[in-house]
Amino acid sequence: MDKGSDKDTDKRAVPVTRRRFLGLGVGSVAGVVALGYVGLAFDFLNPPPAGAEPLREVGQTGDFNVNEPRLVTYKGNGIEQGVYVINLGAEGWLALDFHCTHLQCAVNWVGSVNKFMCPCHGGVYDIRGHVLSGPPPRPLYHRVIKIQGNSVMVGGRQA
Ligand code: FES
Repeated sequence: MDKGSDKDTDKRAVPVTRRRFLGLGVGSVAGVVALGYVGLAFDFLNPPPAGAEPLREVGQTGDFNVNEPRLVTYKGNGIEQGVYVINLGAEGWLALDFHCTHLQCAVNWVGSVNKFMCPCHGGVYDIRGHVLSGPPPRPLYHRVIKIQGNSVMVGGRQA
């Protein structure tokens, strides 16, 4: 009985050599550094929250045809921002961040099918940013949008 259980114990025991110990240490440090970079990338790609940046003018109301989302880009907080401005006619205005909610690729409006398509993994959204198919876990982020006179103003992410 004892011989058998000693054998089992020996099979499970993994000797920690210097090489293995150093390998685990280097691997752990690399993992922590990688997580830090992922966090920075997430901050970089996600739209800034409302109030984190001022409203800015991106065009005049006449520049946006009804039901034809138009991408506007600008530099905000030193980062290139992309927002689809959508004139929904009698239903008002909408601003959607152009980052896919799966892994942050830039989505494209494809007018021939009236959908936003993500080129990375096939995510598809409708004109209001709702997910129609593919891996995105949630709708496109809404950005603040205000019409002041004839000026179209956009800001950070809505809560
Ligand atoms: S990043 Fe858009 S579907 Fe994956």
